[in-house]
Amino acid sequence: MNATLRSLVRETTLSMDDFIYPLFAKSGEGIKKEISSMPGVYQMSIDEIVKECGKLQELGINSIILFGIPEVKDSVGSDALCEHGIIASTIKAVKKAYPNMFVVTDLCFCEFTDHGHCGILDIEHESVNNDATLEILAKQALVHAHAGADMIAPSGMMDGMIEALREALDSEGFVNLPIMSYSTKFASAYYGPFRDVAESAPSFGDRKTYQMDPANRREAIAESVEDEMQGADILMVKPALAYLDIIRDVRNATSTPLCVYNVSGEYAMLKAAGKAGVIDYERVMMETMIAFKRAGADIIISYHAKEVAEVLRRR
Ligand code: PBG
Ligand code: ZN
Repeated sequence: MNATLRSLVRETTLSMDDFIYPLFAKSGEGIKKEISSMPGVYQMSIDEIVKECGKLQELGINSIILFGIPEVKDSVGSDALCEHGIIASTIKAVKKAYPNMFVVTDLCFCEFTDHGHCGILDIEHESVNNDATLEILAKQALVHAHAGADMIAPSGMMDGMIEALREALDSEGFVNLPIMSYSTKFASAYYGPFRDVAESAPSFGDRKTYQMDPANRREAIAESVEDEMQGADILMVKPALAYLDIIRDVRNATSTPLCVYNVSGEYAMLKAAGKAGVIDYERVMMETMIAFKRAGADIIISYHAKEVAEVLRRR
């Protein structure tokens, strides 16, 4: 087939408008520390993050999602609740330098608590107390909103999370601030490298009480449908690559825009295989991205976003 005809009939395409790039903010200055399991991914101080945003915009990447590594962690994740905390400060610095950079914030406590769980623990300290966590999540969302975040992305999988956040945001006038819910989030070993970057591995136990069983398909769909009903503006399936069937299922079961999170372990695997010389890294990367779109994703959060931009620019 002729190349022009091939592109005329192509069903799925990629554009830089599809991507959100993750950044990890750490307190300090002049810090840019590469993560050994994720080559090309860094913990950065705020000044470096601002510089990075300039480079991202040159590449056509206009959306970022922020994660924070606070100086001090405690049992309730106080840094996340403070207007001078690492995330609030990063939002302000980025929006000041690049007002049209679209800043999404990950809303969770695992990077901010000393025990590494996604919220406040219950009295027995065995698992997260859902309702107490909803209260501090609402506070965290308002801190981000006041700092200038463009979209809030709650990732803790607490019950009733979207409804509670919508109510809190509306009550302080942020009626137009969108919520992107990590609506179908599996308890996955693919998050391993992220927990190195974000220094957020739980100090005991795991996240299985609030994240989903990878074996459950009906439950996966129901979780996203539930968040759609609670008012989420964008839904998400995470991880992405091992869950393409779920992406398609959620796409078919809802009409809300859908994001996928191409997580740290997926990135690390491709990087390692590319480095070992056993795959054509760039082609495998592009094929993986198109698979997400074909499965039904509108938006892709990916550590590969900068490399994808370079490939698309060359075409
Ligand atoms: C929670 C959060 C995690 C990821 C995104 N948000 C970690 C977790 O649930 O353990 C994982 C992303 C990745 O692996 O790239 N704040
Ligand atoms: Zn978490």
